[in-house]
Amino acid sequence: MRFKNKVALVTGGASGIGAATVRRLVEDGASVFIADLNDDLGRRLSDELAADRVAYRHVDVSVQEDVEAMVGAAVEAFGGLDILVNNAGIGSFAETPDLAPDEWHKVLAIDLHSIFYACRVAIPEMRKRGGGAIVNTASISGLFGDYAFSAYNAAKGAVINYTKSMAIDHGKDNVRINAICPGLIRTGLTEEGLLQPPLGDVWQAGIPLGRYGTPEEMANVICFLVSDEASFMTGSIVVADGGQTAHTGQPNLPKLLLEGT
Ligand SMILES: NC(=O)c1ccc[n+]([C@@H]2O[C@H](COP(=O)([O-])OP(=O)(O)OC[C@H]3O[C@@H](n4cnc5c(N)ncnc54)[C@H](O)[C@@H]3O)[C@@H](O)[C@H]2O)c1
Repeated sequence: MRFKNKVALVTGGASGIGAATVRRLVEDGASVFIADLNDDLGRRLSDELAADRVAYRHVDVSVQEDVEAMVGAAVEAFGGLDILVNNAGIGSFAETPDLAPDEWHKVLAIDLHSIFYACRVAIPEMRKRGGGAIVNTASISGLFGDYAFSAYNAAKGAVINYTKSMAIDHGKDNVRINAICPGLIRTGLTEEGLLQPPLGDVWQAGIPLGRYGTPEEMANVICFLVSDEASFMTGSIVVADGGQTAHTGQPNLPKLLLEGT
């Protein structure tokens, strides 16, 4: 019960990494406010979990007023805010000349601006409680480039540096701010690709652990980062990718030279 008496807010909490994080936070004692666009999944999750400690609200995180109302509603529902997980996100495939400006703005609004809108009002609430913890879900795609993933790469790269910027500003407030960079995780975002042969196999072959990760494995890292066990961590960018980005991209020379493959 490491989150007993803590109040948490998780955006994109209705499915995937967000839903696994909600479950874990609730299991470990927190009251959790779920924000998402997917009302079916959000309400189902909220109904399934401890009714007096879980609430769901329809929120479009790309809309500043929605996000401000979301933080206000979480504070009103549970009496304050200790933990914020900025997790809602979308991807978008296109090389720059083919990317419509509307699509660019949409990805940046959901993946990046939403974090600004939420932190802007959440940090003052955390100050009132003597501190708090925020985790932003970035991506290994914020550390390096992917083919035809320009808007997502740009947004997630910005999330990483914005996390560091806020971390140094709010150490004085005892608000710790970290980011997680998931690698390939099987969720609604990736499932279609993973199930499409040979894409799934090719994708997983680039991961030293030889498999995709699970939402629960990401929830473990997020919950560690927002817990007191990570009390000296702020501004940290934690990669959880099965070793995918440990590789320089060089060929496997021993295999190539000795086995010819
Ligand atoms: N799955 C992966 O391999 C992977 C890898 C790296 C990073 N991520 C990041 O993890 C986060 C969670 O993604 P996931 O893989 O769990 O995918 P997911 O699609 O299962 O979950 C994303 C959730 O965000 C919600 N959402 C989307 N737009 C929203 C909006 N405008 N307002 C409110 N909610 C909105 C969706 O309804 C959904 O419930 C994202 O930020 C994603 O970029 C995922």
